[in-house]
Amino acid sequence: MKRSLIDILDLSVAELDELIASACDIIDNPAKYAHVCAGKKLATLFFEPSTRTRLSFEAAMYELGGNVLGFAGAQSSSAAKGESVADTAKTVSCYADIIAMRHPKEGAALVAANNASIPVINAGDGGHCHPTQTLADLLTIYREKGGFDNLTIGLCGDLKFGRTVHSLIGAMSRYKGIRFVLISPAELRVPDYVKEDVLDKKGIPYEEVTDLETAIPELDILYMTRVQRERFFNEEDYLRLKDSYILDLKKLTHAKNDLCVMHPLPRVNEISVAVDNDPRACYFKQVLNGKYMRMALILKLLKEAGTI
Ligand code: NCD
Repeated sequence: MKRSLIDILDLSVAELDELIASACDIIDNPAKYAHVCAGKKLATLFFEPSTRTRLSFEAAMYELGGNVLGFAGAQSSSAAKGESVADTAKTVSCYADIIAMRHPKEGAALVAANNASIPVINAGDGGHCHPTQTLADLLTIYREKGGFDNLTIGLCGDLKFGRTVHSLIGAMSRYKGIRFVLISPAELRVPDYVKEDVLDKKGIPYEEVTDLETAIPELDILYMTRVQRERFFNEEDYLRLKDSYILDLKKLTHAKNDLCVMHPLPRVNEISVAVDNDPRACYFKQVLNGKYMRMALILKLLKEAGTI
């Protein structure tokens, strides 16, 4: 049966476990997977800029022996002529076996999924969610921490527009003993719908603070994020808020020795490059883990659709 991934909560905890096990098997036995998608095509429909997400989807499909087609900007597609997402999804269903789509509008991936006859993977819909970044994040946490329970997770930066944050909160809220420290300027706090529908509903303890330095000592994970310039209504606010938090080696001296520093990237100024050589820096491991999880996801969805 055709199945899409729009929100990370579309996957059960058991399915996440399966995806992680599948990604670990891919890491250990790449040759076993080198031809499983032979003759199949992934379409990457990116209406917004991307480096990691699009290229990791493409690398994932190539490493599974499949092929890739697509576009990397709204201007080079018929969207520039006024074509709807629904029509684009119907069209691409005639050419490909699975779609990965990124779009600036919240809900666009759902519209595509409702109109496509092939699985659609949400590669980011506006400021809403980004489930495959969360898959990368989960494999990273699993490999660094050995599991998901009893973690104090600091999320820092633009928690309002940062879609990776919304998806990660949803995913981590299903494990035991999780506590969030939400570190942001007042204007960039986690949206109410995330607090009400996820944190409050599940009774997850969280606190909202503005200071990174005082929060850092208690954290097991520190997830830094970029201030999402493209979602701001005016440049002035962006300029005022963009450098609210900069993680440097001095701040890290107060952190646990086994802190896991994460960032979905791209980094602008949020983490000083000097931190890259600290063993606690995990953000480039996240990049690699993202490719393996996307391989596992493509396999799962193509199998469920009966394509492979
Ligand atoms: C993130 C995104 O697109 O939401 N990037 C990514 O996919 N790794 C984070 C960001 O752009 O800040």
